[in-house]
Amino acid sequence: MSNLDKILEKYPFVQRDNLIPILQDIQDEFGYLSEEAIIKVGKYLSLPTAKIFGLASFYHHFRFNITGKYHIKICNGSSCHVNSNMLIIKEIKKRLGIRGEEVTKDGLFSMEETNCIAACGEGPVMAINERYFTHLSIEKVAEIIDSYKSLEE
Ligand code: FES
Repeated sequence: MSNLDKILEKYPFVQRDNLIPILQDIQDEFGYLSEEAIIKVGKYLSLPTAKIFGLASFYHHFRFNITGKYHIKICNGSSCHVNSNMLIIKEIKKRLGIRGEEVTKDGLFSMEETNCIAACGEGPVMAINERYFTHLSIEKVAEIIDSYKSLEE
Protein backbone atom coordinates (compact mmCIF):
# COMPACT_ATOMS: atom_id res chain seq x y z
CA MET A 1 0.00 0.00 0.00
CA SER A 2 1.40 3.42 -0.92
CA ASN A 3 1.80 6.21 1.60
CA LEU A 4 -0.95 8.07 -0.20
CA ASP A 5 -3.32 5.11 0.26
CA LYS A 6 -2.39 5.01 3.94
CA ILE A 7 -3.35 8.67 4.29
CA LEU A 8 -6.72 8.08 2.61
CA GLU A 9 -7.28 5.07 4.83
CA LYS A 10 -7.18 7.41 7.83
CA TYR A 11 -10.42 8.94 6.49
CA PRO A 12 -12.71 5.92 6.09
CA PHE A 13 -15.85 8.02 5.93
CA VAL A 14 -15.83 9.63 2.53
CA GLN A 15 -16.79 13.17 3.43
CA ARG A 16 -15.89 16.28 1.52
CA ASP A 17 -15.20 18.01 4.85
CA ASN A 18 -12.10 15.85 4.99
CA LEU A 19 -10.58 17.44 1.91
CA ILE A 20 -8.38 20.02 3.67
CA PRO A 21 -7.11 17.61 6.37
CA ILE A 22 -6.31 15.05 3.66
CA LEU A 23 -4.42 17.64 1.58
CA GLN A 24 -2.58 18.76 4.70
CA ASP A 25 -1.54 15.18 5.48
CA ILE A 26 -0.34 14.71 1.91
CA GLN A 27 1.73 17.89 2.02
CA ASP A 28 3.19 16.88 5.40
CA GLU A 29 4.15 13.49 3.96
CA PHE A 30 5.43 14.50 0.52
CA GLY A 31 6.24 18.19 0.93
CA TYR A 32 3.81 19.25 -1.82
CA LEU A 33 0.59 18.29 -3.58
CA SER A 34 1.38 16.42 -6.78
CA GLU A 35 -1.06 16.24 -9.65
CA GLU A 36 -1.24 12.48 -9.15
CA ALA A 37 -2.20 12.95 -5.49
CA ILE A 38 -4.87 15.51 -6.32
CA ILE A 39 -6.41 13.23 -8.96
CA LYS A 40 -6.48 10.35 -6.48
CA VAL A 41 -8.07 12.48 -3.76
CA GLY A 42 -10.63 13.69 -6.30
CA LYS A 43 -11.61 10.11 -7.13
CA TYR A 44 -11.75 9.20 -3.45
CA LEU A 45 -14.01 12.11 -2.50
CA SER A 46 -15.87 12.26 -5.83
CA LEU A 47 -14.71 15.81 -6.39
CA PRO A 48 -13.52 17.31 -9.68
CA THR A 49 -9.75 17.81 -9.84
CA ALA A 50 -10.18 21.46 -10.88
CA LYS A 51 -12.23 22.12 -7.77
CA ILE A 52 -9.51 20.66 -5.54
CA PHE A 53 -6.81 22.69 -7.29
CA GLY A 54 -8.95 25.82 -6.93
CA LEU A 55 -9.58 25.29 -3.25
CA ALA A 56 -5.98 24.34 -2.44
CA SER A 57 -4.71 27.42 -4.31
CA PHE A 58 -6.83 29.56 -2.01
CA TYR A 59 -4.74 28.41 0.94
CA HIS A 60 -1.29 29.88 0.46
CA HIS A 61 0.50 27.23 2.45
CA PHE A 62 -0.28 24.47 -0.04
CA ARG A 63 2.46 23.90 -2.61
CA PHE A 64 2.14 22.23 -5.99
CA ASN A 65 5.80 21.76 -6.72
CA ILE A 66 8.46 19.74 -5.03
CA THR A 67 10.66 21.76 -2.69
CA GLY A 68 14.13 21.37 -1.29
CA LYS A 69 14.88 20.29 2.26
CA TYR A 70 15.23 24.00 3.03
CA HIS A 71 12.48 25.93 1.31
CA ILE A 72 13.08 29.67 1.13
CA LYS A 73 10.09 31.97 0.84
CA ILE A 74 11.20 35.48 0.02
CA CYS A 75 8.60 38.21 0.28
CA ASN A 76 7.96 40.10 -2.91
CA GLY A 77 5.24 42.36 -1.49
CA SER A 78 5.34 46.07 -2.21
CA SER A 79 6.89 47.11 1.10
CA CYS A 80 9.73 44.60 0.81
CA HIS A 81 10.10 45.59 -2.83
CA VAL A 82 10.67 49.20 -1.77
CA ASN A 83 13.26 47.87 0.68
CA SER A 84 15.32 46.42 -2.18
CA ASN A 85 14.24 42.80 -1.89
CA MET A 86 15.35 42.31 -5.50
CA LEU A 87 18.96 42.54 -4.33
CA ILE A 88 18.24 39.86 -1.75
CA ILE A 89 16.56 37.62 -4.34
CA LYS A 90 19.53 38.09 -6.65
CA GLU A 91 21.92 37.09 -3.86
CA ILE A 92 19.86 33.99 -2.98
CA LYS A 93 19.89 32.86 -6.62
CA LYS A 94 23.62 33.52 -6.86
CA ARG A 95 24.46 31.59 -3.70
CA LEU A 96 22.24 28.66 -4.62
CA GLY A 97 23.12 28.60 -8.31
CA ILE A 98 19.51 28.75 -9.42
CA ARG A 99 17.80 30.96 -11.98
CA GLY A 100 14.38 31.25 -10.43
CA GLU A 101 11.86 29.37 -8.38
CA GLU A 102 13.50 25.98 -8.59
CA VAL A 103 15.19 23.31 -6.50
CA THR A 104 18.98 23.11 -6.29
CA LYS A 105 20.57 20.09 -7.98
CA ASP A 106 21.42 18.50 -4.63
CA GLY A 107 17.78 18.84 -3.55
CA LEU A 108 18.69 20.84 -0.47
CA PHE A 109 17.29 24.27 -1.30
CA SER A 110 14.39 25.75 -3.18
CA MET A 111 13.15 29.29 -3.48
CA GLU A 112 9.75 30.83 -3.95
CA GLU A 113 8.73 34.48 -4.17
CA THR A 114 5.61 35.12 -2.12
CA ASN A 115 3.07 37.84 -1.52
CA CYS A 116 3.27 39.93 1.66
CA ILE A 117 3.93 37.76 4.70
CA ALA A 118 2.71 40.39 7.14
CA ALA A 119 6.01 41.68 8.51
CA CYS A 120 6.21 44.81 6.35
CA GLY A 121 7.91 46.95 8.99
CA GLU A 122 10.74 44.46 9.19
CA GLY A 123 11.50 43.92 5.52
CA PRO A 124 13.04 42.62 3.50
CA VAL A 125 11.79 39.37 4.98
CA MET A 126 12.21 35.69 4.15
CA ALA A 127 11.43 32.38 5.76
CA ILE A 128 13.36 29.14 5.56
CA ASN A 129 10.88 26.40 6.32
CA GLU A 130 9.10 27.81 9.40
CA ARG A 131 11.85 30.19 10.58
CA TYR A 132 11.62 33.88 9.69
CA PHE A 133 14.50 36.28 8.99
CA THR A 134 13.95 40.03 8.94
CA HIS A 135 15.80 43.23 8.03
CA LEU A 136 17.77 41.30 5.42
CA SER A 137 20.83 42.71 3.74
CA ILE A 138 22.99 41.05 1.10
CA GLU A 139 25.58 40.20 3.75
CA LYS A 140 22.99 38.85 6.17
CA VAL A 141 21.27 36.61 3.60
CA ALA A 142 24.63 35.25 2.45
CA GLU A 143 25.50 34.39 6.04
CA ILE A 144 22.15 32.71 6.63
CA ILE A 145 22.35 30.56 3.52
CA ASP A 146 25.93 29.60 4.27
CA SER A 147 24.93 28.56 7.78
CA TYR A 148 22.25 26.23 6.35
CA LYS A 149 24.74 24.84 3.84
CA SER A 150 27.18 24.10 6.65
CA LEU A 151 24.54 21.97 8.37
CA GLU A 152 24.88 19.53 5.49
CA GLU A 153 28.70 19.34 5.34
S1 FES B 1 5.60 43.36 1.90
FE1 FES B 1 7.03 41.98 2.70
S2 FES B 1 6.21 41.51 4.63
FE2 FES B 1 4.73 42.80 3.77
